[in-house]
Amino acid sequence: MTVLIIGSGAREHTISCAYEKSPQVEKIIVAPGNDFIKYHRQKEVLTDNRCGLKDPESILDIARKYKPDIVDVAQDDALALGTVDLLTENGFRVFGATRKASRIEWDKRWSREFMRKYDIPAPGFRYFDSEKGAEEYAESLYDNEPGKLVFVKASGLCAGKGALKATNVVEAIEKIKQMKKFGEAGRVFLIEDGLRGEEFSVYAISDGNAYYIFKSAQDNKTVSNFDEGAQTGGMGAISPAIVTRNIATEVEDRLISKAIEGMDKEGAPYSGILYLGGVVVDGRPMNIEYNARWGDPECQVVLPGVETDYVDIVTAVIENRLGEVDIREDDKARVCVVGASRGYPGDYSDVKGKRIFGLEEAMNMEGVTIYGAGVAVDGTNFYANGGRLFSVVAEGADILEAKRKAYCAIAHVNIEGNNLHYRTDIGWRDVERYLKSVS
Ligand code: GLY
Repeated sequence: MTVLIIGSGAREHTISCAYEKSPQVEKIIVAPGNDFIKYHRQKEVLTDNRCGLKDPESILDIARKYKPDIVDVAQDDALALGTVDLLTENGFRVFGATRKASRIEWDKRWSREFMRKYDIPAPGFRYFDSEKGAEEYAESLYDNEPGKLVFVKASGLCAGKGALKATNVVEAIEKIKQMKKFGEAGRVFLIEDGLRGEEFSVYAISDGNAYYIFKSAQDNKTVSNFDEGAQTGGMGAISPAIVTRNIATEVEDRLISKAIEGMDKEGAPYSGILYLGGVVVDGRPMNIEYNARWGDPECQVVLPGVETDYVDIVTAVIENRLGEVDIREDDKARVCVVGASRGYPGDYSDVKGKRIFGLEEAMNMEGVTIYGAGVAVDGTNFYANGGRLFSVVAEGADILEAKRKAYCAIAHVNIEGNNLHYRTDIGWRDVERYLKSVS
C-alpha cells in the first residue's frame, strides 16, 4: 500500500511511523512534510511540499500524482477547508473528518451551542461580533464577580493561540481588542467562564457510530516550567495522564459518546479522530474544546503505544466497521519533551539556520524516538528551521523511567549559540502522583 499523510509537523512524523509499522505499507508520502520525516526510515518515506494546507486543490493534485491507497488528512486547516470531502468526491479512500464534522473544531461558537444542545458538560459562554457589546458584557461580569477567570476566544482556527486568559476587566477588554489580529477567525469571538482544574486530552477514533478511546494524555502548553509564560503549540506531553477509571467512565459517557451521537443527529456523522481537550473540576471532567484530529504533541505519546495494525484500524473506519477491530495498546508510559528555538513563541528568527548538535546520539538511545518539525537536514547535519523543532519521546515501564530517558536524551542536544529551549518539568504532576502511589 501507499499512504499519503497531509500535514507537516512532529505529529505527522508520528503518524507516518504508525503506518510504517504495518506490514501492508510499502511507501509513505507526507505532504508538505518536513526534512526530518525522511531521515533514517525503514521504508520508502517521501515528502512533497508542492501543496498548501489551506489549498485543498493542491492536495488533490498531490493525491493524483502518488495515487495512494489511503489518504490521512491529519491537519486542522486542511480538514476545515473540506479536503476530506474533495478527495472522497474524487475517488480516494480518505481518513479524517469531513468539513461538516470538523466544524466541531473550526467553529467554536457552533461547537459550544452543540454542547449545550446535547447536554455535554462545558463552561458558560456568550458570543459577540462587536467589541462594544463584548466590552459592556465584560464590565457587567466583573462588576458582579471581581477576579473571575474568563477566556476570550476566537471562534475560528488560530493555530492553538486563539484563547486569551483574563482575570480583571482591563485584561478582558485588552483581550477583546486582540481578537482583531486573528482576522476572519476572530470576527466572532466568545467570552467563556474559565474552569480551574487539571487539564487532560483524550482521543477517540470513530467511524460515525462505533468508537474506541485511546489512553489519555496531558499537554504542557505554556513555554516555561510550571505552566508559566506564553501559550505555545505544546512544549511536551505524557501518557497516560490524570484520567482515572472513574473519570474515564464519565469522559466516555458524557463527553465522547454524547458528542458522537450528537454529530450523527446533526447530520454530520463523525468519522476520524475526535480530540477532547478536557479539565477535571472538583473530580469531574468537563469540556474545554473538541478538535477534529490528533493533538501535537499528544499524538507523539499516544499513537506509538497502539499495537494493532494502524492500517487495519483506519481501513475499518473508512469502511464503517470499526466495531469489528480489536484495538490493543501497550501498557508503557511515554514522555515527550519538545525542543524549541530560543525565543519561541515570540521572535526566534535569529536562530534559523543555526546548527543542531546531538540529535543523532539522542535518537540512538534505546526506547527513544525523535520526531521532527522544524529541523532542516543537510546530509547528516541538522539546522534549526522553525519555532518548535523536534519532539524527543521516551518510553518506560512507568512515568519515572520514561521521564528519565527523555531528559537523558535531550541532554545530548544543543543548538549553536546555546539556542535550544525546552521545559524541564514535563510530567511533574504525574511523577508526584506516581511517587505517592508507590510510597
Ligand atoms: N496539543 C494541542 C493541540 O494539538 O491543539
